[in-house]
Amino acid sequence: MDAVAIVEALAEPAGRADPYPLYARARQLGPVARVWPDVVLVSGYDEVNRVLRDPAFGVVDGDVRPGAAEPASVRVLGSSVLRTNPPRHAAMRAPIASVFTPRRVRELEPAITATVDLLLDEIAAEFARDGWTDFMDRFAFRLPVNVICALLGVPEQDRYRFRGLVGELTALLEFMPGDLTAADLAAAELEDYFRRLAAERRNRPGADLVTALVGLTGTEPGLDEGELLGNLVLLLVAGFETTTNLLGNGLALLFRHPHVAAALRAGALPVADFVEEVLRFDAPVQMTSRLARSAGLSVGGFELPRGGEALLLIAAANRDPARHPDPDRFDPWRAEIAPLTFGAGPHYCLGAMLARREAALAFDRLLRRFPGLAPAPGREAVRNSRLLLRGYTDLPVRC
Ligand code: HEM
Repeated sequence: MDAVAIVEALAEPAGRADPYPLYARARQLGPVARVWPDVVLVSGYDEVNRVLRDPAFGVVDGDVRPGAAEPASVRVLGSSVLRTNPPRHAAMRAPIASVFTPRRVRELEPAITATVDLLLDEIAAEFARDGWTDFMDRFAFRLPVNVICALLGVPEQDRYRFRGLVGELTALLEFMPGDLTAADLAAAELEDYFRRLAAERRNRPGADLVTALVGLTGTEPGLDEGELLGNLVLLLVAGFETTTNLLGNGLALLFRHPHVAAALRAGALPVADFVEEVLRFDAPVQMTSRLARSAGLSVGGFELPRGGEALLLIAAANRDPARHPDPDRFDPWRAEIAPLTFGAGPHYCLGAMLARREAALAFDRLLRRFPGLAPAPGREAVRNSRLLLRGYTDLPVRC
């Protein structure tokens, strides 16, 4: 199978459902393989890591592909840190990064724990009433959306409508996204929502992130209105769908590896090690990409033209045997776990620490509260149809 066939197969439903055999084939071609004259496929750990850290490679933004038509979804996320290159990127990222300090995350822990316990109470009531519940909708979605919305200052009554909207918008980030009509409508609605919330906070400031970022508009160097809204939408989007999928992928792995669940319950395995191995083994973000910012750059010996693209298979890199021996074994006891799932370099995930702590607190309390937690008999777990944001839509459970 050559690199073109692998890329095409990854875009098919079967490839998205189980991309790991295709990643293994990509690695067999070498850590880097040419797909088209202006595209390379990168599956080796060191090579993915290197491109992510190399400032000669940039994210997709107007500087690299000038003049590209701009649908609303592209414009909104394109105004955020995720799609901004140097020198603007660092100035935009710094104030947002100041909120996600280790100290701030530690301070959030009591509130996260309280939310976990509240959601577990609700699940317990559903078990008592119906005998089962959907873990994705009732817990994996609700926990991170409440945490990020509390940080942002989004009122409680508005939070649960975001699951569909964010799902539609993130189609934009998918591998070969296709029609963006629904993503554009979702982007416009989310932008409107945050425009109204930002106006409210200008009049009545709160102790939240929307207020903090609103305070940066009109200052120098600050954020302009488009950047403010783009970053608020990004924080919402980045803040929960990925973490939702980390929780779902993790629980599904526990069902397949009951000895790991037993070790966690017995305190014989640090929950942080389990979370790290879930991030490595079934990454909620499977890939990203970078564009060559100038001519004459190469990846693994393959030259790219200016604007040429390196498809970075994060999840394949996580399973590179040169980095993680026996990589297809789920093993939270392995000597070292160093996934690239939060990226690396200038765009390294701002919420990595928050996501890790949310997941650790969630699994710890979930497993202790429901010792008999298991898949609900007669009901199917359903994977989403995404490649990039890998997760489940339904994970029916009983206790
Ligand atoms: C398991 C959960 C998460 C995963 C797997 C994840 C993964 C990632 C990855 C791979 C990137 C870099 C993308 C690239 O380089 O192209 C990223 C960036 C980012 N993430 Fe996360 N993320 C998670 C949770 C969060 C949370 C909870 C937040 C916020 C509360 C967040 C906020 C961000 C932001 C703002 C960026 C852009 C940083 C920049 O471009 O400078 N993420 N994330």
